[in-house]
Amino acid sequence: MPHRAPGASGSQKPQYLSGKPITYYRPRGSAEVRALIDEGFQAFNAARLSEACRIYTDKMLAPESDTTIGLTVAGALTPAGLGGCIVELMERGLVDFLISTGANLYHDLHYALNFTLHRGSPFVNDVELYDQGIIRIYDVLFPAQVLLETDSYVRDFLVRLGVDEPIATSELHYRLGLDLLERHRGCEEYSVLGAAAKYGVPIYTSSPGDSSIGMNVAYHELINGSRLMIDPNRDVNEVCAIVLAGTQNGCVILGGGSPKNFYLQAQPTLWEVYSIPKGGNDYFIQFTTDQVVWGGLSGATPAEAVSWGKINPGVLPDTAVCYADSTIAFPLFAEYAVGSRWNRRARRELIHKRADLVAALKQQADAARQRPKKAEGDPKTMPELERHR
Ligand SMILES: NC(=O)c1ccc[n+]([C@@H]2O[C@H](COP(=O)([O-])OP(=O)(O)OC[C@H]3O[C@@H](n4cnc5c(N)ncnc54)[C@H](O)[C@@H]3O)[C@@H](O)[C@H]2O)c1
Repeated sequence: MPHRAPGASGSQKPQYLSGKPITYYRPRGSAEVRALIDEGFQAFNAARLSEACRIYTDKMLAPESDTTIGLTVAGALTPAGLGGCIVELMERGLVDFLISTGANLYHDLHYALNFTLHRGSPFVNDVELYDQGIIRIYDVLFPAQVLLETDSYVRDFLVRLGVDEPIATSELHYRLGLDLLERHRGCEEYSVLGAAAKYGVPIYTSSPGDSSIGMNVAYHELINGSRLMIDPNRDVNEVCAIVLAGTQNGCVILGGGSPKNFYLQAQPTLWEVYSIPKGGNDYFIQFTTDQVVWGGLSGATPAEAVSWGKINPGVLPDTAVCYADSTIAFPLFAEYAVGSRWNRRARRELIHKRADLVAALKQQADAARQRPKKAEGDPKTMPELERHR
């Protein structure tokens, strides 16, 4: 029997791009959703989601906690329309900095540039898609032309940027966001990059070469002879400095991947490399489909992170891992947060504080180097470092 893609009728060519446009959903703080999470989600991963919501809204966002909150983003979340939840949290000051895969930032650009991604089906003929110039991310479909025009925008932006030296990804993304705000007025409503620039939220990417943004930075060097480079050292030190400055620190981890470690490595960088006894994270929330049994970092538990000094030993009750697809869990989580008591905080605008924070890190690292060492060969243990707190 000849194959027929679901939805296609007879011999007619399927209209792959006829699905509804994917838009950025903005959470509104629905009382019904909060009631469902509080009263209906009682066991298994529903209960973990419920716990995560309460840790975030009752503890991390409580004014007395003064928690610096990092959000890490991996998995195809902006293509799936989840950028609106990130925008809402940034606008309300509920996250202070982001670490994202380059892919999510690149795909966010389509929204900023008003290109349309469509709802579709995962059960399609990919050879036909290829012939028709249609790109597929599971059930998200869009014309390849969107990629070409987004790339072209990135290359033009890099020329306008005119930077000819190494910079942090936070700077690249900030300048990209400013460019979008200038050329596409109002895009902060539906672009993570635009909103982050407007609200002063630094965005880092842990693997700058691993996306179409990085691919176009590489083009800019090879073809235009630019010396613009992404300097990962700056990113490492900036994230470390932000965490060092936090009264308390907490994270919301979407998926896993390298953004998860890039956030969590800040504390080991402090104690292991700079000899600064800061201690680990105070709060940890992860939504993931990754498993612990393979030994990978993406699925590693908060308990395992304690052994690395990434999480404070006493705070495990303030951690939650919810095994769920982020495209379901994160909008529910954001909806809950927007409807919560502390649903708005003064924005920290860390983008403008990076230089001062890194200077403070350097000062503390220099002071740590001056401290008299114990007997030669004595290892510095984490419990000893912990006692310095
Ligand atoms: N054009 C580009 O720049 C570019 C580059 C790389 C990837 N992509 C596309 O972007 C998509 C996202 O890639 P990525 O690099 O952000 O991450 P990824 O898809 O490689 O995922 C990284 C991590 O997130 C977890 N994860 C993924 N989806 C999840 C979900 N729904 N719920 C919970 N956890 C989930 C994974 O298990 C893993 O730990 C890919 O599917 C790919 O199609 C585009």
